Amino acid sequence: MRRLGELPASQFTLPPGAMGPDPDRLQPLFGAGGDLLPLWVAEPYLPIAPPIVEALRDRAATPWYGYEQRSERLASAFWAWTEERHGWGGDGLVASVSPSVGTSIGALLELRTEPGDGVILQSPVFTDFKPLVVSAGRRVVKNPLVLDGDRYRMDLEGLEESVADASCRALILCNPHNPVGRSWTRDELRAVAEVCAANEVFVIADEIHADLTLPGHAFTPFAEVAPEGGWAALHGPIKTFGLAGVCDSLLVTSDSSVVDDYRAMSSRLHLTRNQVFSLAAFEAAYTRGGPWVDELLALVQRNHAALVRGLPVEIAVTPLEATYLGWLDLRGLGLEVPEIVDWLGTKARVAMSPGHWFGREGAGFARMTLAVPEDWIAEAIERISSAIA
Ligand SMILES: Cc1ncc(COP(=O)(O)O)c(C=O)c1O
Repeated sequence: MRRLGELPASQFTLPPGAMGPDPDRLQPLFGAGGDLLPLWVAEPYLPIAPPIVEALRDRAATPWYGYEQRSERLASAFWAWTEERHGWGGDGLVASVSPSVGTSIGALLELRTEPGDGVILQSPVFTDFKPLVVSAGRRVVKNPLVLDGDRYRMDLEGLEESVADASCRALILCNPHNPVGRSWTRDELRAVAEVCAANEVFVIADEIHADLTLPGHAFTPFAEVAPEGGWAALHGPIKTFGLAGVCDSLLVTSDSSVVDDYRAMSSRLHLTRNQVFSLAAFEAAYTRGGPWVDELLALVQRNHAALVRGLPVEIAVTPLEATYLGWLDLRGLGLEVPEIVDWLGTKARVAMSPGHWFGREGAGFARMTLAVPEDWIAEAIERISSAIA
């Protein structure tokens, strides 16, 4: 069996021997022997945009790594980017820096809910949300997505029922949605905003996948449908540009009380210390990363189309509107949840995230990262087809 670094070159190639992120975690998680195709972490398994690499090299070559002010240029670069990509210029909004999306969610739960309060999750949904809610001593209230044919939608009636409970104080919205790949429409988001505003439910809109909206679909910022207050949206370059190990993120809102409270907490806990490499990467990403992202999105579309064409009929591929995450319906294999994990690792030898990691509503599905060289997808199709045959 070829090692991944020996797969034929494609437009995006990895250095020889590269195994993608976290090779040491593959074995314990997926159990199988070596030679697993790693398609499970939500980040590009690709060399990142050359202008960012250049900016980091230049910064490293300046031998001074002390305190550095965050220039106004960074916020301007972010808003110029969102204006150009999404027609969203941020008028009337304030952006605060946060070390990570998870930090912002944790902080907002502390600031806008009380212990024991309910926090709504639309499962299957990103794995970190539940532990953030639980470790804050809040309750997870599920408002699962509904699968209509092969397309997911929000259960707005169920949402109304959930918010009718006065102890339900917040909703964590994933826009676009990891793992099911929906780019929520303006009407869907407006309905969520109205229901939550009417019931004083704070909306935490995790929009970290915004820039990964595929051609033919549009990203609608929650800000554009949100009421005056009672919400915050989370943004940043980490997913789009593969910078989770370097960059910080942004908390955006029109609600001055949220900004004031978040900044007070941030200074109380000393949450932000500028990191010189983060500053360099952030600016390079938003000012010079556009062409790379366009190529990435085209690659993701090709990889998704290849899966739809190439996988055996037992596996259905959910339509993809945004994110670089394929959501595969494995229920046609007729396997129980523990069998699916074993099947993926030992039979197909493809490390995908089993759907139940995202909540029990994801059972029978698996998430595959599509921001990978095209050869990897061809290899995944071959391995899965052989396992089924
Ligand atoms: C929807 C979503 N939010 C947040 C994150 C992680 O953000 P952070 O590492 O900044 O907490 C991810 C990572 O995959 C994600 O998919």
